[in-house]
Amino acid sequence: MELDFIKDMFNNIAPRYDLLNRLLSLRRDIYWRREMVKALRLSNGGRVLDVACGTGDVMVELIRQKKAGKHLIGIDFAPEMLRLARQKLYPLPESDKTFLVAGNGLAMPFLPESFDAITIAFGIRNIIDRKMALQIFYEHLTPGGSLAVLELSTPRQRILKFLYFTYFERILPAIGGFLSSNRMAYHYLPASVIRYPEPEKFAGFMHSVGFKDIRWCRLTLGLATLHIGIKPKLKQR
Ligand SMILES: C[S@@+](CC[C@H](N)C(=O)[O-])C[C@H]1O[C@@H](n2cnc3c(N)ncnc32)[C@H](O)[C@@H]1O
Repeated sequence: MELDFIKDMFNNIAPRYDLLNRLLSLRRDIYWRREMVKALRLSNGGRVLDVACGTGDVMVELIRQKKAGKHLIGIDFAPEMLRLARQKLYPLPESDKTFLVAGNGLAMPFLPESFDAITIAFGIRNIIDRKMALQIFYEHLTPGGSLAVLELSTPRQRILKFLYFTYFERILPAIGGFLSSNRMAYHYLPASVIRYPEPEKFAGFMHSVGFKDIRWCRLTLGLATLHIGIKPKLKQR
């Protein structure tokens, strides 16, 4: 039910998704994805999975930073988002090793230990059972593989927080609603960000499923947070 609501919402806003991302984040979203990909330790021949790939912006960045490796797979359950990803990725020279899969990130059609890196940007916020998602990502990583989770977050500083909430709860739903013709989606966005756990707590979830060497950093005054974790080479749990 929750999944259907989210899928329909993204199918619906897909045509305006990129434009609204750039506009509402003042193009910070591009910088945040760039930082996420930069932080990934990946040798050239790696296999990479981007979960909740949407319109493919993380995949484009992985290709741009030459981290796509042996093959690069994106999975998303909203066909309209995937259609736009295909348009973006298809003209790139690396498209022969790039694959898009329509499916649920919580029930992925891949064998365990298939990927050297898994990325998820602005996607885990939409998944209620985050621990289960992290467990699934852990199982799909090869030993030594890395997970990168990029997500919107709320700044800590009081005045900034006040300004942020004014923007987020009043201005953003109005602009987003107008341009996407889906006001509900841009009311859902702030609500889902507010529900997202503090970085320490999220790092704790990662630790509880087995990730080691967990690092996290706040980007642009805490408007986004990046977590990186490694699946240990030897089982140490
Ligand atoms: C905010 S968009 C992020 C897209 C992209 N990663 C980016 O950086 O712009 C969230 C995406 O997650 C997808 N999504 C949410 N829950 C999902 C799930 N359980 N399985 C697969 N895709 C999911 C939605 O369809 C949507 O395309």
